[in-house]
Amino acid sequence: MKPIESIMRTAPVIPVLVIEDVAHALPVARALVAGGLRVLEVTLRTPAALDVIRAMKQVDGAIVGAGTVTNPDELKASIDAGAEFIVSPGLTDTLGRAAVDAGIPYLPGVASAGDIMRGLDLGLAHFKFFPAATSGGLPALKALAAPFYQCRFCPTGGITLASAPEWLGFDPVLCVGGSWVVGKGEPDEAAIEMAARGASALSR
Ligand code: 3PG
Repeated sequence: MKPIESIMRTAPVIPVLVIEDVAHALPVARALVAGGLRVLEVTLRTPAALDVIRAMKQVDGAIVGAGTVTNPDELKASIDAGAEFIVSPGLTDTLGRAAVDAGIPYLPGVASAGDIMRGLDLGLAHFKFFPAATSGGLPALKALAAPFYQCRFCPTGGITLASAPEWLGFDPVLCVGGSWVVGKGEPDEAAIEMAARGASALSR
């Protein structure tokens, strides 16, 4: 099994994290891991993100990756910070090539047949379907997954605890991503752990 596939199979949900304050990194990661979500996507959308990756890696059991990586410079910074996998909202040849050359598990965003074909050209077969809900939802993914039967997906974007089961019920979907598990602001560890438990109990 490719490393990206085993990461995708670790838990049914990858929490998409936007952490403003590095002081929140440990409590958030601890609560998520305690609730059964070990794969953590720290988006590079805040100045604190790289420090958050470094901090979360101290939590036993956490598999910490960088999300919202959009170019090779951000890829390098993420790897230097210790990211164990990389997620991007889309796929460019430049970033795709750099990620493949770096040998790091990589989940690029796709929303069309052309996107997927560009990924296949790079030797990739595992994709984030993004933005899932507004790119035609599950019917669109089913239509794309038919010709690209060898591909596996992590739909993300507009997915909720309520809508996750129908996505996870589709065989090529190994996990879903979502920001619903962790709310904004000061982390409430008990609430995050409870949300993580609900998410990790979803079955594929
Ligand atoms: C992402 O970057 O993957 C999305 O912002 C997550 O989408 P959501 O906030 O709708 O879950």
